[in-house]
Amino acid sequence: MARKLFPLLVVLIAGLALALWLVWPNGMTQDEALASLPADFAGDPVKGELLFNTAGCGSCHMNEQASAEKPEGLVGGKGLETPFGTFYPSNITPDPATGIGGWSETQFLNALQRGLRPDGLPYYPAFPYTAYAKASAEDLLHIKAYLDEQEPVEYQVPKHALAFPASIRLGVAAYKKLLVDFSPFEPDPNQTDEWNRGAYLTQALGHCGFCHTPRTPWQTEDASRAFEGAPPLKAGEKAAKKLVDRKPGAIVDALSSDAIDLFAIISEKSAMAHVSRAYDAVSDADKQAIETYILSFAP
Ligand code: HEC
Ligand code: HEC
Repeated sequence: MARKLFPLLVVLIAGLALALWLVWPNGMTQDEALASLPADFAGDPVKGELLFNTAGCGSCHMNEQASAEKPEGLVGGKGLETPFGTFYPSNITPDPATGIGGWSETQFLNALQRGLRPDGLPYYPAFPYTAYAKASAEDLLHIKAYLDEQEPVEYQVPKHALAFPASIRLGVAAYKKLLVDFSPFEPDPNQTDEWNRGAYLTQALGHCGFCHTPRTPWQTEDASRAFEGAPPLKAGEKAAKKLVDRKPGAIVDALSSDAIDLFAIISEKSAMAHVSRAYDAVSDADKQAIETYILSFAP
């Protein structure tokens, strides 16, 4: 009898081990998280504000207009409607109860670079940590220094409205384990400094591919079709256009408020409008680097 049960037991234990491996948190210890920082590092809120704009954090987290139910500020923007349901971006003001007040640098980096909550559960990739994982600890902690300076606002965001099985947060852990690349950004030594700067800004902060690269059936960005344009997440909204066939200058031109107000190439209601406005703060050299990188994918 014991002999007959033995193979069953082996399969059971292997299955449990696999399940455990799939959902085991991928967090960094403090030493791991802060290893790349210079010894005298101090987060700089002025640098942080610029990086915050480059990374488009406000697109999802900023509520521009106070209403009876919801105060103004970084308390979470509109719900993100997706085929899985509606995600409500978090309150990222320093309010200790409903925001991220009191978070350590390690907790912040685990959220941005590992998609991991302080309690060890995963975040949904509607929060583009799949891109921010490639950002340097230094840049992200400048952003934290900027956020720490904001006014704390008490506001509890609603729970995400998701259909089963997307509603099971732990399932995202398996998705992360199998499909997300958490390796840091590596410059390509065969490319120019400008190209590498553009690659870093585009992949790690700007997350342009999040909207402009078509997705695989697994909902990851399809690297073989980088920047070829993608349908909108929400039916009825503007599609994110193909970028690789643009004329020189066209990508730089799209990255400013003028693209909306003056040239009307970006519609105020599109998901791009926040990006264009946020990039008013970004230097021309950085915008040009982004263009150089993206156009290098042209066939
Ligand atoms: C495309 C929309 C989007 C963008 C852009 C975005 N976020 Fe978020 N963020 C979210 C969503 C949605 C969540 C909630 C995820 C969840 O509950 O699993 C979130 C969660 C977070 C959290 C966790 C808060 C908590 O209380 O657990 C932090 C911190 C955060 N975002 C910071 C940032 C920063 C900093 C940036 C810019 C570098 C940024 N986000 C850009 C959508 C976004
Ligand atoms: C949140 C989704 C989203 C992100 C992130 C995003 N885009 Fe867009 N983008 C769009 C959409 C949607 C449009 C179409 C806008 C329209 O038709 O009004 C667009 C349009 C554009 C255009 C076309 C302008 C034209 O002349 O037609 C360019 C160029 C562009 N984006 C570049 C970028 C770059 C570079 C980045 C990264 C820094 C970026 N986008 C990030 C959604 C996004």
